[in-house]
Amino acid sequence: MKFKPLSSGFGVETSDVDISRPLGDDAFAELEREFFQAQLLVLRGQSLTAAQYVAFARRFGPPEPHVIDQFHHPEDSDILILSNRSKNGQPLGLADAGSYFHTDYSYLQVPARATMLCSLEVPRVGGNTLFADQYAAYDGLPDAMKRRIAPLVAIHHYGNRKVADEMSRTAASPLTDEQKAKMPLITHPIVRPHPVTGRKALYAVSGSSYGIVGMAENEALALLDELAAHATQPKYLHSYPYLPDDVVIWDNASLLHSATLTDPDDPRTLWRITIKEPSTKLDALEVLAPTFASPAM
Ligand SMILES: [Fe+2]
Repeated sequence: MKFKPLSSGFGVETSDVDISRPLGDDAFAELEREFFQAQLLVLRGQSLTAAQYVAFARRFGPPEPHVIDQFHHPEDSDILILSNRSKNGQPLGLADAGSYFHTDYSYLQVPARATMLCSLEVPRVGGNTLFADQYAAYDGLPDAMKRRIAPLVAIHHYGNRKVADEMSRTAASPLTDEQKAKMPLITHPIVRPHPVTGRKALYAVSGSSYGIVGMAENEALALLDELAAHATQPKYLHSYPYLPDDVVIWDNASLLHSATLTDPDDPRTLWRITIKEPSTKLDALEVLAPTFASPAM
């Protein structure tokens, strides 16, 4: 397989693989190695059934169905349909998902290893996903800041801390009361060694992080905002424009990402699968933070 670098410091694309058929162990190992090295892997020209897509995803680890279950694919709940199309007045998928920098499932005890999107139809204009390299962002911090944040543990829950109005297009997708009840408070270290590569990365400093264990709320939010502003500077970003039949896979432990808003009348449809990390010793740090009051979501 030949991999071509994307126009940024990370990410590669290839047209040399057809994932509709099972890959041999050696071929998959090569793909997986490239994925963890490049952080963002684009597989061009894929034409997949739901079953073929899920079978490929399972090679990376266990899929975790999204808490928003009303848009699960009818053939397989591991697929979440992202779409702005509707039929008979009913939406066919989740629109405007994640249009702020975040890390998938950082609000869960076992967060996402990888997220994949298969593009079925792309809008005429826009629809890029922005990615921010959190290895480079960590490396780019002043030493004094690295020392300050080394022991710190952030408190996470479902949501976007920058947008309180849950009906905003840049809020996290609204949950039903039943879905909210499933979402506990979770903690993750701010500097999180990558579970596979071991390299240090800033972890989910924007999106679901709402506080820091043992720190006053105003001080914690100021620090998280400072880190998020640092971590999303243009020098750490790549903006990916989808083509039809792309499968795009990203490494949630080393990247932040943000969807970009599109014209609601410009159709787009993607299938998303989210792969959990296998449990690691990092989980020992992930405990409920009982003194932290959950704001309204
Ligand atoms: Fe996301």
